[in-house]
Amino acid sequence: MDMYKPFTHEDGNEKQFGKEIRDCDFMYDPKMTFLNHGAFGGVPRPLFARRLQVLERIESNPDEFFEYLVLQTWQTAVAKVAGFVGSSPSNLTFIPNATSNGTIALQSLNLQQSDGILITNLTHESLRFSAAHFAKLTGAKLYCINFTFPLISKQDIIDKYQEMLNDTPAIKVAIIDHITSPTAVKMPIEELIKLCRTRNVKSIIDGAHAPGQVPLNLDDLQPDFYSGNMHKWGFTPRGCAIFWVHPELHDQGFQLEFFKQATRDYSPFIIAGAAVDYIDQIGGMARITEYNISLRDKAVQYILKEIKGTELLGIPEDLRSPFLTIFKIPECQSKYEKNKEGSLHLRKVLFVEHKVDVYIFALQNQLWCRFTTHIYNHFKDIIKMVEAIQKECS
Ligand SMILES: Cc1ncc(COP(=O)(O)O)c(C=O)c1O
Repeated sequence: MDMYKPFTHEDGNEKQFGKEIRDCDFMYDPKMTFLNHGAFGGVPRPLFARRLQVLERIESNPDEFFEYLVLQTWQTAVAKVAGFVGSSPSNLTFIPNATSNGTIALQSLNLQQSDGILITNLTHESLRFSAAHFAKLTGAKLYCINFTFPLISKQDIIDKYQEMLNDTPAIKVAIIDHITSPTAVKMPIEELIKLCRTRNVKSIIDGAHAPGQVPLNLDDLQPDFYSGNMHKWGFTPRGCAIFWVHPELHDQGFQLEFFKQATRDYSPFIIAGAAVDYIDQIGGMARITEYNISLRDKAVQYILKEIKGTELLGIPEDLRSPFLTIFKIPECQSKYEKNKEGSLHLRKVLFVEHKVDVYIFALQNQLWCRFTTHIYNHFKDIIKMVEAIQKECS
């Protein structure tokens, strides 16, 4: 098998999204309703098959792969994915996951005791942990902007950052989630990156949920560091994220440093190139976005009509993440406490007893349900989710 061969999906564009593509292209357990794509992604069958071929090819001659093939194969994949995220290949590399961004970027900044690291209460726990760790290690101080729901507006978010940076010149680096999790707020990163630049604050953007969900043009965006998982919305096997670094911050041999990850499984990176082809061949981001948003809109109408006492999490329209939607779990007979334990309990009951996979979380003394819409979902999935929640929470 030739590793550089472009991927072709024989009948990609022909398939109906919804049940048909789920049955043909995905390996999901037919008994389950999957509405939690944002958590761990999902690999389509044709890409899974391609990965097996790649692994077999590697095993047929491991020395040949690691000595003579891996670099070129990896570079081909970087170039392909660079096109997908609006980057020149030289600014991009692969890392295993979005979380690694925090550690790598913070480590490179040589923070001092007098410096500050900025996060928010919506920062994902993995990068919050990295920030706290580096603050402890260097003596730098951690600053946090607190947001409460309903959020007021995009401008209000920008104002809060501006106020914090005005009041705190010590802040040298800001960690900004592109799409917050689990709260699904699409942060105004364009404006926030520009703001950071004018204040000489380095921006570390955590775009774990972004590639394959929102269009990206990283070379235009010009953050200092940007990471995004390909293994969530980009259909790759787990263990594949992009890492974009501003050219001013490249060390000599920046890409090769990241390429050399010793003896590891390179197949998720190699498959990323094929995943970009897969997306193209099923109709591209335009077709995917149109389907996912239209299913989401139908779902929202249905949920608001059927579930008494629910509402959407208060996020202004222009800050909503397109494929992740959050609604309130209605007041129920206190079977589920409105805290972390209650959320875990309800999630498990929905998963195990109702075979419905959604993400339940506690926020502001209330339980919320986050569901995703993707090309393999259809309206019956939404009905199933609503029925399960009605049964548990009425
Ligand atoms: C905003 C954000 N950052 C980081 C992560 C962690 O991603 P990974 O486990 O791939 O590092 C997630 C996972 O959901 C996330 O939503």
